Amino acid sequence: MIILGIDTSCDETSASILQDGNILSNTVFSQNIHKKFGGVIPNLASKDHEKNISMTVKQAINDAKININDINAIGVTYSPGLISCLLVGLNFAKGLALGLNIPLIPINHLEGHLCSNLINDYKIKFPYLCLLVSGGHTQIWKVANVNDYNILSTTVDDAAGEAFDKGAKMLGLSYPGGPEIEKSAKNGDRNKYLFTIPKLKQNPLNFSFSGIKTSLYYKIKEMNKETINNELSDLAASYQEGILNILFHRMEIVIKSSNLKDISIVGGVSCNKRFREKTNEFKQKLGVRFHFPENQFCTDNGAMIAMCAYLKYLENKNLSNFDIIPIPNVKI
Ligand code: KG4
Ligand code: ZN
Repeated sequence: MIILGIDTSCDETSASILQDGNILSNTVFSQNIHKKFGGVIPNLASKDHEKNISMTVKQAINDAKININDINAIGVTYSPGLISCLLVGLNFAKGLALGLNIPLIPINHLEGHLCSNLINDYKIKFPYLCLLVSGGHTQIWKVANVNDYNILSTTVDDAAGEAFDKGAKMLGLSYPGGPEIEKSAKNGDRNKYLFTIPKLKQNPLNFSFSGIKTSLYYKIKEMNKETINNELSDLAASYQEGILNILFHRMEIVIKSSNLKDISIVGGVSCNKRFREKTNEFKQKLGVRFHFPENQFCTDNGAMIAMCAYLKYLENKNLSNFDIIPIPNVKI
């Protein structure tokens, strides 16, 4: 079965082709226009999606070396995301699916991330724990099956990716901040500046990243630009380590309270090399296996949307829905 997956939820226009869960192509057009603003500007993002959606889908079809008529179904993100951006992908997918007379499968972007480690017959099998760490979300899910998810932990304020992005902005680095901080942190001393792990009384499993962001602000408040530049690699390495320590602290509690041995780590922040390296310390200590998708499937991509659509279609052939509307934030 050949599925086209489309995602335009934020600042990546992406289209991918999967055949029976295996990747044939993955085209991602990342918008650079937001760099100078230090964050995504919704109006500019939707216009850029509109400009590039057709070219992105054509490219995905060409790269997959298939004919447009070979596509059996289209999976498309309808939520969560910027409404004007979701509309572009959704309308394009509706028109194409109607024209080709094939099913249109609406997909929740978060479910797409949860399935991203299943692309290409990956080793991980249901049930598993999934840490979703992106620019908009930081959550731990128990994934029992494709339509059976249970949220165990979420952030009470910023997402981990947001903490990277905002920290990078404070340090004078560009957007998106995660890869910039990772680059600057390369030869830095990660123990030079200490960041504490927040404790939440109400739900100790939940994440919080507003404190670490404020702590960075106070650390650099008294420094002039030159000192920040001189200290950049140590500041970046310490800040990165601080964010990762919060993630591992909560993951450890959840892992210990569950009997699941496979942990999938997905979303943009999971590209981080130090993050991947740190799992080695924990896998022995906790007796678990950590799984990361290929980098191209960590950040937003159409392949995870196609994968999720494929798994849902196998479970229920009647889920085509042309009346679907974009929804900025819907629960799974
Ligand atoms: O999953 P994603 O592409 O989009 C959302 O659904 O949000 O995640 C984007 C986030 C951004 O905050 C970006 O700074 C972060 O992922 N990110 C990273 C790295 N690459 C992307 N954070 C840390 N280290 C990285 N290498
Ligand atoms: Zn995402």
